[in-house]
Amino acid sequence: MRIRRALLFMPGDDRRKIEKGAALGVDSIIMDLEDGVALNRKPEARATTAAALREVDFGRAEKLVRVNPFSIHLWKEDMGETVAARPDGYVLPKVESAHEIRMVDSYLAAAETRYGWPVGSIRLLAIIETARGVANLRDIAESASRLDALIFGAEDLAGDIGATRTPEGWEVFYARSAVVIHARAAGLQAVDSPFVDLNDLAGLSAETRRALMMGYTGKLAIHPRQVETIQAVFTPDAEQIARAKRLLEAHAAHQAAGKGVFELDGKMVDMPMVRAAENVLARARAAGLDVDG
Ligand code: COA
Ligand code: MG
Repeated sequence: MRIRRALLFMPGDDRRKIEKGAALGVDSIIMDLEDGVALNRKPEARATTAAALREVDFGRAEKLVRVNPFSIHLWKEDMGETVAARPDGYVLPKVESAHEIRMVDSYLAAAETRYGWPVGSIRLLAIIETARGVANLRDIAESASRLDALIFGAEDLAGDIGATRTPEGWEVFYARSAVVIHARAAGLQAVDSPFVDLNDLAGLSAETRRALMMGYTGKLAIHPRQVETIQAVFTPDAEQIARAKRLLEAHAAHQAAGKGVFELDGKMVDMPMVRAAENVLARARAAGLDVDG
């Protein structure tokens, strides 16, 4: 699965922002046809997004399109007008059941067959941001093999359940935990909600570090200035890499000597810490760092 640390949103009818986003070195670009676009601009947004998919050089960035929710039936038009331009994947908002994903999955399989593309090559990312979506997480996470990630949407969820957003976020904490648990149980990536205060980079960094500690693998971004902070948090630094390698070397030596558990720097080390260290190196490799040389 490709690395998705920061996923930058922009309105799909804004060619200037799409071009700016494409030049940033962000892992994923999400051209939005849903709530970032006014109702009377949907046709324009589909056309602008399709043209950008064909014409803009996105470099290494993944090209994603967020369509409208399943319930309001615009998603077929959204995909119908953009799929020929071959995005890498679609982001589905307000997903509430496995049925929705399976309908989209069949639609995309038909399109892939029509164009002669490998079936399953267009990936899906599902946003969980309603009470029903949280309640059906298990089925949603296991719904289709083209599903790569669950994305947590805190703002819409708070609206749906009648909660008031606070800086601490306890009102959405159960859902934020549930999304990462179900994503990981199904072998999917987990992507955290965006941080809406565009000028508070320290706050963004702290919230992103909390997401990382919870097991999240990426976070949505809504402004170019958020990208570097997010990608940095999800990329292990030299010290973390060195510590992980040291722990794994010590583990290998103790295993060879027939010892499963041992002490390193005054702390007990056993399998959970070994897995955590392996996870750090896997994230570093996925970010393109040379940890084995
Ligand atoms: N992607 C790419 N470029 C962006 C961007 C984005 N999300 N947000 C801002 N920019 C660009 C602007 O075009 C501007 O570049 P320019 O001066 O060369 O034109 C530069 O970055 C600075 O932008 P700024 O003036 O600080 O912001 P703004 O007032 O233009 O836009 C928002 C503010 C919030 C409207 C904008 O950041 C945005 O559209 N964010 C995404 C919103 C979205 O998609 N929401 C739906 C999902 S939650
Ligand atoms: Mg939303």
